[in-house]
Amino acid sequence: MSEGSFSRVGVVGLGTMGAGIAEVLARGGLAVVGVEVNQDALERGRGHLERSTGRAVKRGKLTEDAQREILGRVALTTDFADLGECDLVIEAVPERLDLKRKVFAELDKVCREDAVLATNTSSLSVTDIAVTTGRPSKIVGVHFFNPAPVMKLVEVIATVLTEPDAVARVAALVKGLGKTPVTIGDRAGFVANRLLFGYLNQAAGMLESGHATRDDIDTAMTAGAGLPMGPFTLMDLIGLDTCLEVLDAIYAESRDRRHAASPVLRELVTAGLLGRKTGRGFYSYDASGGDEPAAAAGEPPVVGIVGVGPLADALAALCDRAGASVRDSAADLAGCDLVVEAAEDTEAARALLSAAAQAAKPDAVLLVTSVGGSVIEQAMATGRPADVVGLHLPDPAGTLAEIAATVATGPDVADRAAALFAGLGLTTVRCRDRAGFIVDALRFPYLNDAAAMLGAGYADADSIDAAMTLGCGYPSGPIADLDRLGLDRAVTVLRALHAETREPALAPVPLLAEHVTAGRPLR
Ligand code: 3HC
Repeated sequence: MSEGSFSRVGVVGLGTMGAGIAEVLARGGLAVVGVEVNQDALERGRGHLERSTGRAVKRGKLTEDAQREILGRVALTTDFADLGECDLVIEAVPERLDLKRKVFAELDKVCREDAVLATNTSSLSVTDIAVTTGRPSKIVGVHFFNPAPVMKLVEVIATVLTEPDAVARVAALVKGLGKTPVTIGDRAGFVANRLLFGYLNQAAGMLESGHATRDDIDTAMTAGAGLPMGPFTLMDLIGLDTCLEVLDAIYAESRDRRHAASPVLRELVTAGLLGRKTGRGFYSYDASGGDEPAAAAGEPPVVGIVGVGPLADALAALCDRAGASVRDSAADLAGCDLVVEAAEDTEAARALLSAAAQAAKPDAVLLVTSVGGSVIEQAMATGRPADVVGLHLPDPAGTLAEIAATVATGPDVADRAAALFAGLGLTTVRCRDRAGFIVDALRFPYLNDAAAMLGAGYADADSIDAAMTLGCGYPSGPIADLDRLGLDRAVTVLRALHAETREPALAPVPLLAEHVTAGRPLR
């Protein structure tokens, strides 16, 4: 009964997501009926479809004949009655419950009794939609990710009322379209948005509080965490209105302040600056672009490394690759441009840095790396805090250096530190002296949320990891990340974040602490 049991599929609403879904269905060989409210909207939908398939033709991924065939499978109409022969209809209209209910009431009237009706809602409760129809057992959620033709994940949402056969048939269809279905229950944000939006909102909060700039936060998350897009680029892609709706819906269920939309997001939405679709959001898309400030890469500096351990080794290897000379004996520090403390524990770091501060020349930049305390505490202990900045390499073998200036750091010291690290071939970003700098402050709360989701049994490790890799293009999923980065490190960073903010949701979840004590990875 399951495989290939749908042959004619309706799509209601042909905005970015609806048109993308229609394209995916037509590419999969299905007959598609696309419905819009009026002729103008229908033409816009046609435009989306033509542009998206046209792009594939230009890139040599699709022949013109194949494009014609795909477009030929999509019948466009403004008449709901044309959905009468569909065995599945997917609704993708704007995220307003009243509007969705109106659409479902209409579908209930015109669709065959055995037709399955699906919503692509990203934030509303599928159950709320289902209960106002005359066929709640046939209502499912099918949540595609933007851009729908590219992202491989589809969350299939079953409510407590949905009949198992409808869910199985939709999941089989998704598989047949070359995508990966993850079947889950009806909770706000499902898996991917629940994990993604806490992080996106926190990034907006960082910008709001002046912790770091938009560009530095985006660069940190691409260069330092390997994400395909930084949070502001991604919010602009999703649409800031959608971001706000998703956050409001998740907040209504979680009552977690981290989901209370950052004021900057609300302000942009009120101003009509919704991201790419309106030409401006966090970024502007009408300008010529290319206004990226290029960090000037100077001569490789002379680097003093004090302390021993993996970080000291990684820094020495980095200097070696960049052709910089390294000094590691106290007597040689006087000739160094920058002196990096790379000890493994905070007490040793403090002692080494104080000694180095005595030995280093007056215009040397001193860098603190230990995560055990704040940069300012250690800077004060050196007796020359104006010369001290914090340094964090989110991946010691990677290409990103995060540099944190404190309130006591001298005016051009962070600039000089950034230039010296650019001389070592690294991308640098700046932030204030707060726990986790940028990358860890953003990724560990997200990882904690994933561990909480696993602990609560909403989804298993495979589904959680698939949601983030296939839905959001992450290089690896959060459960795998936790095991790779180390659960003990996660607990340490989370405790530091919690101690600084007293935000209850930043305390490491019991599952993490339990696995650390047991010495066992999550998988
Ligand atoms: N429509 C169709 N195809 C597109 C596209 C679009 N809008 N944008 C990109 N593509 C295709 C390109 O044609 C290209 O295809 P090819 O490899 O077959 O030639 C491929 O995607 C890669 O594109 P590019 O090389 O131009 O660009 P990138 O390598 O930078 O990749 C990206 C673009 C795939 C969007 C990547 O940056 C990414 O994965 N970003 C993360 C996106 C994400 O997180 N989405 C989920 C958001 S949350 C959501 O949607 C849920 C909702 O409820 C809010």
